[in-house]
Amino acid sequence: SSPPAAPAPLPKAELHLHIEGTLEPELAFTLAERNGVTLPYATRDELRSAYSFSDLQSFLNLYYALMAVLRTEDDFHDLADAYLTRARAQGVRHAEIFFDPQAHTARGVPLATVINGLARALDAAPERHGITTRLIMCFLRDESAESALATFEAARPHLDRITAVGLDSAEVGHPPSKFREVYALAREAGLKCVAHAGEEGPPAYVWEALDILGVDRIDHGVRSMEDERLVARLAAEQLPLTVCPLSNVRLRVIDDLADHPLPAMLDAGLLVTVNSDDPAYFGGYADDNFTAVRDALHLDDATLRTLARNSFRAAFLDEATREKYL
Ligand code: ADE
Ligand code: ZN
Repeated sequence: SSPPAAPAPLPKAELHLHIEGTLEPELAFTLAERNGVTLPYATRDELRSAYSFSDLQSFLNLYYALMAVLRTEDDFHDLADAYLTRARAQGVRHAEIFFDPQAHTARGVPLATVINGLARALDAAPERHGITTRLIMCFLRDESAESALATFEAARPHLDRITAVGLDSAEVGHPPSKFREVYALAREAGLKCVAHAGEEGPPAYVWEALDILGVDRIDHGVRSMEDERLVARLAAEQLPLTVCPLSNVRLRVIDDLADHPLPAMLDAGLLVTVNSDDPAYFGGYADDNFTAVRDALHLDDATLRTLARNSFRAAFLDEATREKYL
């Protein structure tokens, strides 16, 4: 007789996923060849050996370098479709997907190419993969506030495809307050707002994201645990945090998964979700992160179900759809 089938992964929403961070070495080489782009790595193994990071910046260097292979609408489509295939196998039913427009327009790839390619894959996703999606446009915080404003204005014709704005890239030295103006415009335009804060940066950046940017969710936010008043605020407002455990370990935000503050965050009454960030780089997609925290932190089934349920509570879904998942 055959061995018992592995249990189906819990249905969940993925709320912290950079589409560029789903570029697997295999697809990177395929696209490099298709586009006549030369990568500074001869083989997949040589590339894989570059995936050892000391901090956020050391990862970002490789993340931006590999984007050189993304040139055409088809490339962005194929990237997103490959992600959606993997996501469904990990129990993902709804995915809110970040993209970094400035990382592409700076290389001469038009914004419409990026958005149209991604949108073609996302529009097909309910039928093709059984996944609903949202698109979140992120500003690179290590670029200027003016560049973020110009990016937002360039995206105006596409806002019907964009649910929220976000803030990512090198955190320390680039506080949320730098982006006050563009977030005000985004809110005026009816968009939701999120921001990476409290990953490498201090709790003060989480306060700024809340009070100055008016965010609806905090991405990462693990360093909030250093500030009792902040934890109380986040708990009282049930302001969601999209935590990325495998990312935190690979980027040395946390020394060891066994020391991850996830259980303390749950105990403090925070609305925490578990997500994959840049799964091609950090060794795991959505359910891989669930499994990793289950094993390292000895989480019971009820806690895992709470985390899955939180992902739908924190998602940008209409209430009728949310009810179906809860
Ligand atoms: N861009 C892609 N992944 C990121 C992360 N974990 N933090 C900040 N910027 C990012
Ligand atoms: Zn991220």
